Amino acid sequence: MPGTCVIGLQWGDEAKGKLVDILTEKHDVVVRYQGGANAGHTVVSDGETWKLSLIPSGILRDNVTCVVTGGVVLDPASAIREIDMLESRGIKVADKLRLSDRAHVVFPWHVVEDGILNGSLSGGESIGTTGRGIGPCYRDKVGRSLAIRLGDLYRRDFRSTFDHIVKVKRRFLEASRPAGGDAIELDGDTIFNQYQEYAERLRDYVGETTNYLLDSVESGKPVLFEGAQGALLDIDHGTFPFVTSSNSSGVGVSSGSGVPGRWISRTIGVLKAYSTRVGGGPLPTEQDNNIGKHLQERGNEFGTVTQRPRRCGWFDAVATRYSARLSGADEFAVMLLDVLSELDELRICTGYRINGNVVNQFPSQIDDLKAAEPVYETLPGWNDDLTTVRNEADLPKNAIQYIDRIGELLGRPVTIVSVGPDRSQTIFRSGMTQPAQCPPNTQQERATV
Ligand code: GDP
Ligand code: IMO
Ligand code: MG
Repeated sequence: MPGTCVIGLQWGDEAKGKLVDILTEKHDVVVRYQGGANAGHTVVSDGETWKLSLIPSGILRDNVTCVVTGGVVLDPASAIREIDMLESRGIKVADKLRLSDRAHVVFPWHVVEDGILNGSLSGGESIGTTGRGIGPCYRDKVGRSLAIRLGDLYRRDFRSTFDHIVKVKRRFLEASRPAGGDAIELDGDTIFNQYQEYAERLRDYVGETTNYLLDSVESGKPVLFEGAQGALLDIDHGTFPFVTSSNSSGVGVSSGSGVPGRWISRTIGVLKAYSTRVGGGPLPTEQDNNIGKHLQERGNEFGTVTQRPRRCGWFDAVATRYSARLSGADEFAVMLLDVLSELDELRICTGYRINGNVVNQFPSQIDDLKAAEPVYETLPGWNDDLTTVRNEADLPKNAIQYIDRIGELLGRPVTIVSVGPDRSQTIFRSGMTQPAQCPPNTQQERATV
């Protein structure tokens, strides 16, 4: 069975990019199937750092095809910038990249709309989006009448469609202009010409991708699906309204790529060894204190896309058990374990106290999550620097106890441990590679939270 998925199980930035890059060595095709340039995936190899937003993190390896499917919202300027960056640094992109003609295109008005609407939740709260026009572009996709797909840019009648949409967008932007705010101009000719240029630049990469992927899996090619964001930011199953606008949990793989679940045999849930969140919304285990500072500084927790500081807190087993089940995780990769060194004690959240009751089920209502007070268990920490460790046998006993406790609470084994950003700083745990150690029907009983 050829499909492997890498899914972030928290609020994004779990180091999916690093893992995808490593796993690409054994895959022929790597696929981005949701999200867009809101993602920032980092790969570090031989002292060089690569930051990718739209192009799959597999692009750094030879002999791999990287596919961006119709489930992605594609900002052509971002895609071109990334292609240029890669080519200028010696990575060959031509012949390796395929962009779906079904992908919806992000236009400047989406970015403007994102800016206007971002702060307008009732009560004045902000989702704190990345400002990349993601939500407005997905909204136009679902609404259909104002949507433009990548393939449309090459149609002969595109100009008339474009002019119609610009006219409607002008009215919309005028109506949503904040009181006293400047008029928002949309220069149709300039935008049209710019997007014609983008279309020419991207022409060789654009085509059909659904059949390509189906042919790949049906012929037994190993395909790797690279999730963006994290399961708790999923539009349907995450911490709504503080979410992104796509299905960023494991349930989004098939809808975004067109590859049905029958072809997916392995789902790796990616977990940071603690919790982070960037943007708005509750983070129940947040540590607004020295612990939070330790995690932020040691983990260099600043957003890859927006450079915003990420909020940090203890590992949350209530939230991640939910997202692991939702995503069908067979096994876990625990990343950034090195960041926890030099803390006397470590805490794991095993329950939420909500309105006086302790619950272990992740709440569906945001008010309950906001009210949740974490119930913790405490484990001993370690002082050793983990960044030079390459074998499980060299990990401190307390570090092994910590990752095994995560596996136990979540009902699946931790098979991969990361102790630094570089490819080489990765431990594959021997004897832990068989997800069948925890058969699906025992997940509920095994989880003790
Ligand atoms: P992604 O969006 O899930 O791909 O994650 P990001 O790239 O946004 O954020 C993860 C950050 O952690 C990046 O700066 C990585 O280089 C870094 N990183 C990855 N693995 C490790 C690790 O094991 N230890 C440390 N200290 N940093 C890591
Ligand atoms: P990667 O793939 C972390 C967050 C934003 C905001 C919310 C909605 O690097 O893990 P959006 O711009 O998508 O409408 O913003 O989602 N967000 C991310 N947080 N990592 C990401 O991607 C994110 N992509 C979006 O901060 O709270
Ligand atoms: Mg990121």
